[in-house]
Formats: sequence, C-alpha cells, structure tokens
Amino acid sequence: MDCLSRLLLISFLPSVWAVAVATAARRSPGCATRCGDMDVPYPFGLDPQCAIHDGFQLNCTTVGRATKLLYLDVEVTKISVQDGKAWLMTLISRQCYNQTTNDMSYDNAWVNATDTPYVLSADDNKIIVLGCNSMAYMQSDSYVIGCMSTCDDPPKNGSCSGTAGCCEAELPRGVRYYQGFFNELYNTTRIWRKAPCNYITVMESAAFNFSTTYLTSTAFYDADDSRTPVVMEWGIARQTCEEAKANETAYACVSDHSDCVYSDAAGYRCRCSSGFEGNPYILDGCTDINECLDNATYPCAGICENTLGDFTCSCPRGRNMINGVCVKSQRSTWMVPVVGASVGLATLVIGITCAYLVRERRKLHRIKQRYFRRHGGLLLFEEMKSQHNQGAAAFTIFSEEELQQATANFDGQRVLGHGGHGTVYKGVLNKSGTEIAVKRCMTIDEQQKKEFGKEMLILSQINHRNIVKLLGCCLEVEVPMLVYEFIPNGTLFDLIHGDHHRQQHVSLDTRLRIAYESAEALAYLHSCASPPILHGDVKSTNILLDGDYTAKVSDFGASILAPNDKSQFVTVVQGTCGYLDPEYMQTYELTDKSDVYSFGVVLLELLTGKKAFNLEGPEKDRSLSMRFLYAMKENKLEDIVDDQIKNSENIEYLEEIAELARRCLEMSGVNRPTMKEVADRLDRLRKIMQHPWAHENPEELDKLLGEPSTANSTATTGNFSITKRAAIGLESGR
Ligand SMILES: *[C@@H]1O[C@H](CO)[C@@H](O)[C@H](O)[C@H]1NC(C)=O
Ligand SMILES: *[C@@H]1O[C@H](CO)[C@@H](O)[C@H](O)[C@H]1NC(C)=O
Ligand SMILES: *[C@@H]1O[C@H](CO)[C@@H](O)[C@H](O)[C@H]1NC(C)=O
Ligand SMILES: *[C@@H]1O[C@H](CO)[C@@H](O)[C@H](O)[C@H]1NC(C)=O
Ligand SMILES: *[C@@H]1O[C@H](CO)[C@@H](O)[C@H](O)[C@H]1NC(C)=O
Ligand SMILES: *[C@@H]1O[C@H](CO)[C@@H](O)[C@H](O)[C@H]1NC(C)=O
Ligand SMILES: *[C@@H]1O[C@H](CO)[C@@H](O)[C@H](O)[C@H]1NC(C)=O
Ligand SMILES: *[C@@H]1O[C@H](CO)[C@@H](O)[C@H](O)[C@H]1NC(C)=O
Repeated sequence: MDCLSRLLLISFLPSVWAVAVATAARRSPGCATRCGDMDVPYPFGLDPQCAIHDGFQLNCTTVGRATKLLYLDVEVTKISVQDGKAWLMTLISRQCYNQTTNDMSYDNAWVNATDTPYVLSADDNKIIVLGCNSMAYMQSDSYVIGCMSTCDDPPKNGSCSGTAGCCEAELPRGVRYYQGFFNELYNTTRIWRKAPCNYITVMESAAFNFSTTYLTSTAFYDADDSRTPVVMEWGIARQTCEEAKANETAYACVSDHSDCVYSDAAGYRCRCSSGFEGNPYILDGCTDINECLDNATYPCAGICENTLGDFTCSCPRGRNMINGVCVKSQRSTWMVPVVGASVGLATLVIGITCAYLVRERRKLHRIKQRYFRRHGGLLLFEEMKSQHNQGAAAFTIFSEEELQQATANFDGQRVLGHGGHGTVYKGVLNKSGTEIAVKRCMTIDEQQKKEFGKEMLILSQINHRNIVKLLGCCLEVEVPMLVYEFIPNGTLFDLIHGDHHRQQHVSLDTRLRIAYESAEALAYLHSCASPPILHGDVKSTNILLDGDYTAKVSDFGASILAPNDKSQFVTVVQGTCGYLDPEYMQTYELTDKSDVYSFGVVLLELLTGKKAFNLEGPEKDRSLSMRFLYAMKENKLEDIVDDQIKNSENIEYLEEIAELARRCLEMSGVNRPTMKEVADRLDRLRKIMQHPWAHENPEELDKLLGEPSTANSTATTGNFSITKRAAIGLESGR
C-alpha cells in the first residue's frame, strides 16, 4: 500500500534453539558477566560459549558514550533470572500528519520472536493506543485486538479511559509475533495542529503513565527513537519439566536446591527453591538465604536462627511467644518438674501452630468468599436454588479444591488448548469419574466480574444437542473457572486441517451435516434469549466433534449478551484473524450478523479445506475470505474447492454452498442472511443431496432450493467500497 512510507522492523533472526540445547549446560570460567552497569547472568552470555544456547547470546556494544546490551538489533535493558523475564526496547507504530505532502504517513512496527526463547508476557504488558481520532490494532498470528481512542473528554495526566486521548487492551497469552496497524478511516488530517500523531504499542503496563504531552509532540514516550519497554518471558527450551529432566546432560537446572518451572507459553526454566537465592543454572548457584539478616521480610521478635532453606524464631529462656511477641511465662519453669515442662512446651507449640493454621484457613476462606461475591456468586446461587425447585438442569458450583484434584493441579500435560480467553484442561471428577474440560479464564475486568454470575445463569440454562454443555463453574478464585462436558473427538479445525499423517477423507455429506448442526446451534443462541446471546468468536477450533462426529459449538469466553443500552458499548475489539467481521471492526458493535460472517468463513474452510488465515503465504492469499471472493468474481470457484469433495456430479451443490458463504461474507451486516436462514438453507441442501432424483432434474432442484436471492447483493454503496478498503488493509496486515 502506498500509504506506507516506511516499515519499521524488529525481527529476531531464527536460531533453532528449541532443538540445539547446549551440550554442557555449564558456564565456562572467565565469561564476562557485566555490560556497562548491567548484569548479564548465565544462561545469558556475551560470547557464544558463554551462553546456554544461541537464543541467550547477547552483544555488548558501545555507541557514543552509551553502552548497550543487544539481542540482535534489539536493546535489552534488564534481565531477571528468578522471574525468567527480560526487558526489551521495541519500536512503536505511528500514524502522523505530514505537512509537506498533506497526507498521513505511516510507521508500522512489528516484532517477530518466533523461534526464539522469548514470548511477550501477557501479565506485564498492555496494548496501548494514543490519539484523538485513532483506531488501531495489534495483529498477532492468530488474534486481532484493538481499541478506539478519541478526545471527547479533555485528556488528563495519568488516566487512560478511551475517550480522553488514550485507550488500552489486554494482551493474550503466548504472543511471539505481532504487528501494529491503523484503521485509515481514523486519521489526524483535520486535527493535526492539536494532535498530529496516533500511536499503537505493546508495552510494560507499569512503565506507562499517560501524559498529555504525548498527544502534542510527534514522539511518544522517548523523544529519540520512540521505543517502549516490553516484558518478555523466556524459557530454556519449549519442553515440559519432565521432558527436560529426561535428558540429564541438557537439563539446565544444575544447582542443588533448584526447581523446574513450566509455562505453556515459554517452556521450562529454573528457579532456586524457596529459602534459597542465586542462580539455578550454575553448579551450587543457589545459596541459602540468611533470613535473620532481613528482619523486614522475615520478622522475628525473638532469637532468630538460620537453618538450611528456612529459619527458626524462638524466645529467650523463661519467655514464650504469643502472637509473635515474646512474653514472660506465667509460671516459672523452675517450679515444675522437667517432664511437665516439656509436655507444657509441646502443648503450647501445638496450640500456637493450630491457632496459626486456623487463622490462615479463616483468612483463605474470607478471600474465597470475597471472590465468590465479586463474581456475582450469591446472585447465581440464590437464583439457582429457586430454579432447582422448578427442576432445572443440574448446574454445579465447584470448589477450587475439587477442580485442582480433577486436573492434577492444572498439570501442563492436561492442557487441551489455549485461547485468547484462557486455557482449557482435561479433568476427571473424583466423585463420579465424569470426564470434564475445565477452562481457566484470563483476567476479566470489574464490570465483567459483576456480570459473570448473571451470564453463567443464562448459559447454564442453554440446552441444545449441538452446544457444549456447561456443567458448572468455580467462583472462589480470582478469575472464574468454567466446567464443561468433555468432547472426545477434537475440533473441526483438526478434522479439516489435521496433520498430514492422519489426514482423513471427509465426505461432502459429513461436511454439510457439521455445517448445518453448527448453524442450528448459533441460530438457537441468537433466538433463545432476549437479549440474544452472541457467540463472538465463531471459528473451526471452537466447533468440537463428539464420538459420532456430531458438531458441538463451544467457547463462550467471548460471548456476550447483546447490550441493551449504549453505556455498555464496547471500546475494545478482539477476535481471530480471518474470521473477524470487518463491520464490527469499524463500528465496535458486535451483532448477530458478526457471527454470521465468521460462520461464512467456517463454511469456506469446509468447502476449500484451507485455513482461514495463513501468515505464511503471499500477501494476497493470506485471508481465505478475500481469496474466495476474488475466485468467485473471476468465476474460478473450482480452483479453490477442496479436491477431496470436488467431482463433476456435485458441482451444483458446491456452487450453492459457495453462494451461501458469499452472502454470509457481505461487507454490510444487513445484507447477510440470519443464522436461521443459513441453517434452513443448509438443511434443504442436505435433503436434496440425499434424494438423487432431484439432481437428475434441475428444475426440481431449483424448486426445492428456491431462487438464490440477489436483491441484497447489488447494494454497492459508497459506504461499501470504503468498508472494503479498510478490510483489505486489515487482512494484508499492514
Ligand atoms: C517470523 O520469523 C519466523 C522465523 O524467523 C519466520 O519463519 C516467519 O515467516 C516470520 N513471520 C513473519 C510474519 O514475518
Ligand atoms: C541430550 O542432549 C544432548 C545435548 O543437546 C544431545 O546431544 C542428546 O542427543 C540428548 N539425548 C537425548 C536422549 O535426547
Ligand atoms: C553480535 O555481533 C556480531 C558481530 O557484530 C554478530 O555477528 C552477531 O550476530 C551478534 N549476535 C547477536 C546475538 O546479536
Ligand atoms: C513528509 O513527506 C516527505 C515526502 O514524502 C518526506 O520526505 C518527509 O520525511 C515526511 N516528513 C515526516 C515528518 O515524515
Ligand atoms: C501533564 O504533565 C506534563 C509533564 O509531565 C505537563 O507538561 C503537562 O502540562 C501536564 N498536563 C496537564 C493537563 O496537567
Ligand atoms: C503519573 O504521572 C502523574 C504526573 O504526571 C503522577 O501524578 C502520577 O502519580 C503518576 N502515576 C504513576 C502510577 O506513576
Ligand atoms: C482521513 O479520514 C477521512 C474519514 O474520516 C477519509 O475520508 C480520508 O480519506 C482520510 N485521509 C487519509 C489521508 O487517509
Ligand atoms: C525485628 O522487627 C521487630 C518488629 O517487627 C522488632 O520488634 C525487633 O526488635 C526486630 N529485631 C531485630 C533484631 O532488629
């Protein structure tokens, strides 16, 4: 696109680090450990032989008077071995008015840490968008998330509200690649004197403090080169702890008193055990913490004594500790026999320990209660009690303990999948042996927390054979957990795009049935409640397959009850690349027609056997919907239909399906059919296919199918072409 004057690039070169784990996970002697005033602890190193492997080799360079630590061309400002994090400076994306050309110029930055040990930390970073007329997105390899920033309210230092020059959005877990880009319909051509630039960046939340000066200058954050700090998690190898321990020569946690820590996103890393500090990657690197020297962290009012990995705190002779303070014993010890003294002491110790434990447990209970209430648990509980009497379906409120047991403490090996909204684990309920899927959500905001109980209540009442049943939830934890029935046969995505070894033949009949069942389920969601329930993230990975390949629509993490009033209007859009309704990205209003658009893309996957979004391919082929619409325009449908189902007999059916998909993908929502119409049409197509006589007689076929509606598809207004332009901008990822 010509509007791109410059593409800023931060790309980490690939280093096949996951495989090439250094032979000896030991640090050679004589390695430099400092660069300027920065520590460079092992597993990092400044020479190839000093780092554990390529991904941890940094360069120390002096530019002018400044000494900088670089990973390839990216500056590293801090490394934490204990937390497994590193702070990097990355470029921001910006869109500025250029007075010379009277046009907008774009600097779109991107980060590509694929095949490196680094992954953006979801907990420490945020997506930040600045500007007075700005709508910008972060696009990772599977998500598009963005928000809109206006200056309807006067911008205030230290506040980022969405209507005062700044908006922010949560970053999903596991992002290694992203690109920032702007919606060109929002620009500063009219307001450039006041606010010449818009910005988007992913940066450390703690380091961001909005200042009104960011809007008026042309360089946000750091005047020199507009870089912002981002927190990366790192791991030694993308293996679980068990896998890593299996190879003793390569296992990195070599120090005594060290533990292995695993995270889904980064793989495994090491940590000194509790009570120890230092570097777990070096032999004898973890040393005992002398707690007695640090009264502030480990308070002790009596005699402090350090032990290996722990410490004891006791009182001088003749005094006992009560509530952390040493007080004179009520009875002098010399008056009681020796035996009595020790019995008394033991009783006292047991007494204090018990009192402590009871207090801790009460505290924990209070915390759990608080979360329970905050998530709308009481409301849910009351409602359920009243509904239970009316014989409503069983919905259970699980305790945290029950779910921990069921999933072996959320073991990494039980992970079924990750989504933008959380991680799903497989579990088995101890009591009944029922298999379940437990979803741990990502953090949700205060407003959502209050709504949560209400939503659970509605979702718990959904009972449809093509919708995954919500069995219950757990509200005692900070972020709620949802419990679903377990569906054994994987996702529709796996069925269509599964790995090459197990590629199976899926007949057109099966594909149509799955499409029909999913459409039915969505139509039901749209009609069963008022206001309707919108799924919000329809895609092939969210359609699960039962034992006999019955479709089950799942993952209501993104689903919302359509808001009744504008005060609930969302200011953050998110969705999955390739499936996201372009109109929703424009208007920020999720409607039932957004689900129809996404379903259209699923229909295309079934028809073509191709993925909805493919970052690998050439730019024009990345988005399946664009590729399909192009093929339709050129009358080259056969080129794109899956070979598995293509034959001379069924071409008419394939054309019918393609036409239906095309209508679902209309740029303007009002022109798309409703989910109910889609389901009905798919149902009729199936019926006709099962009656070959209809195929022999084309007129009969037409009668059964009805004329394809063309009334809507000709509505090509000015609005249409604008919408389309922005959508293409999104899909090409610039
Ligand atoms: C990111 O980097 C990886 C490895 O270096 C490369 O294969 C991939 O194509 C890059 N992705 C993009 C979108 O540039
Ligand atoms: C263990 O790691 C070493 C060093 O990377 C490698 O050469 C060896 O093949 C690995 N052994 C196994 C059993 O994977
Ligand atoms: C360090 O610098 C050398 C030479 O300048 C370069 O070849 C190498 O790729 C750099 N390594 C890293 C990790 O940046
Ligand atoms: C404005 O555009 C001109 C011509 O393309 C270019 O030379 C100049 O660097 C731009 N100015 C800014 C501030 O981007
Ligand atoms: C915000 O703070 C900056 C300095 O950090 C100052 O220049 C500016 O005037 C302040 N804006 C307001 C509205 O107080
Ligand atoms: C942000 O900056 C303002 C002044 O511009 C200051 O009053 C406020 O304490 C800062 N907030 C944080 C969290 O640093
Ligand atoms: C700026 O936005 C307006 C609509 O708000 C659009 O008509 C115009 O073409 C845009 N200008 C540029 C240079 O993108
Ligand atoms: C440690 O702190 C406690 C208060 O928390 C104080 O009473 C005690 O005297 C301190 N002990 C030492 C050795 O500083």
